[in-house]
Amino acid sequence: MKLCMIGTGYVGLVSGVCFSDLGNDVICVDRDTKKIENLKKGIIPIYEPGLDELVLKNYKNDRLKFSTNLKDSISKSDIVFICVGTPTKKNGSAADLSQIFDVAKEIRSSISKFKIIITKSTVPVTTGDEIEKIISQKVSKKLFSVISNPEFLREGEAIRDFTYPDRIIIGCNDKKSNTILKNLYSPLISKGAKYVNSSRRSAELIKYASNAFLATKITFINELANLCEKLDINVEDISIGMGLDKRIGGRFLRAGPAYGGSCFPKDTKAITTTADKFKTNLSVIKSVIKSNENRSSLLLKRIFDILRGKIKKKKICFLGVTFKANTDDMRDSPCLSMIPSLIKNGAVINYFDPTGEKKEFKKIRNVSFSKDISSAIKDSDLIIIHTEWNDFKSINFKKNIIKKKFTIFDMRNIYSLTKMKKQKIRYFAIGC
Ligand code: UGA
Repeated sequence: MKLCMIGTGYVGLVSGVCFSDLGNDVICVDRDTKKIENLKKGIIPIYEPGLDELVLKNYKNDRLKFSTNLKDSISKSDIVFICVGTPTKKNGSAADLSQIFDVAKEIRSSISKFKIIITKSTVPVTTGDEIEKIISQKVSKKLFSVISNPEFLREGEAIRDFTYPDRIIIGCNDKKSNTILKNLYSPLISKGAKYVNSSRRSAELIKYASNAFLATKITFINELANLCEKLDINVEDISIGMGLDKRIGGRFLRAGPAYGGSCFPKDTKAITTTADKFKTNLSVIKSVIKSNENRSSLLLKRIFDILRGKIKKKKICFLGVTFKANTDDMRDSPCLSMIPSLIKNGAVINYFDPTGEKKEFKKIRNVSFSKDISSAIKDSDLIIIHTEWNDFKSINFKKNIIKKKFTIFDMRNIYSLTKMKKQKIRYFAIGC
């Protein structure tokens, strides 16, 4: 099939490349000329394990193309995916849909034969209705169908999540388009993915409901972790014990720092704002947002307690600064608020991240980047394991740290409490 992905950000690029790998002809379009030129040279704008090889392979075999010409790319395609950003509005909590509506206007001037137009971007419920309205102002409804097909790709796991999805959600009311899309996704359906055809509005809401539910699950276990810390209970036992109940499930039940990234914080805010607009109070999700926003200051207080209030001149090393492992994404990373607060209180910060130095910390005095783990930790009073990279999972702390007295605060519960005790390392983790 001939596909056009509008927007070569995370969603558009990963989906476009994976669709081409399934044998489709894909044009990835972006108005950013530099990005497109780079992609043609094999320079990938995002960090995603395995993506560069797939781009190269499919670009070489000519199934994957990159272009800045939107009109031409749309006219050459049967299916057009809208994959532009829907960030939180400045000074508000609603999603900013200006890029979506701009694209809809561009699409309507490029339709001469039947097109399936799909929103893959995360858009508030009823956005599909708006897109349809915009396009039908200039084009007959017989010539297009607007469908919602949300993505469920995790950063760092995106290719696997695309290739082996649990479900494919198609929010579409017309039979013809549904058959075409079932055919497009048939290689994934035959590997076990469930194909769900719902109304367009349902599909839009399924996406937000899924992210909000996962955020709720994480926040639930994070709050229980706070209780465990007071009761000498290990939250890991609670996660295992709860998660084995198939109705609950163990995934996304790992306590840690606040959830971050470009999706959960943005989408939880957007769904509550949409609900408010329809005079419905999503109070559970609202308190999840609040609890998550408070989490970094709670953890900061814990750091103060661990250091017995003596923070001045203490050398604190962060292992990992992105919002989670296997990504270079700093958006809503919990350490973006923790590090400046520690600095304000006189600490000296050193960090290592497998994805390199971060511009966010370049201008902060007393924050420095180390090129490897051993030089990052060697001089530290406190090591904070902030993300769960494999690189951090078997460090010989005693061998690498010069100081006799050092402390570890493991925010991802990577290490075993008993082993740390045996080695006589002062070790703290989340929820124990
Ligand atoms: C999330 C969803 O998982 C994807 O399904 C969705 O497609 C994507 O948002 C999106 O809407 O585009 P992502 O933001 O890449 O994916 O990251 P996750 O792996 O879901 O992690 C989100 C946050 O939750 C991270 O801060 C992570 O550290 C935290 N987390 C996750 C926990 O603290 N505990 C867990 O058990 C799981």
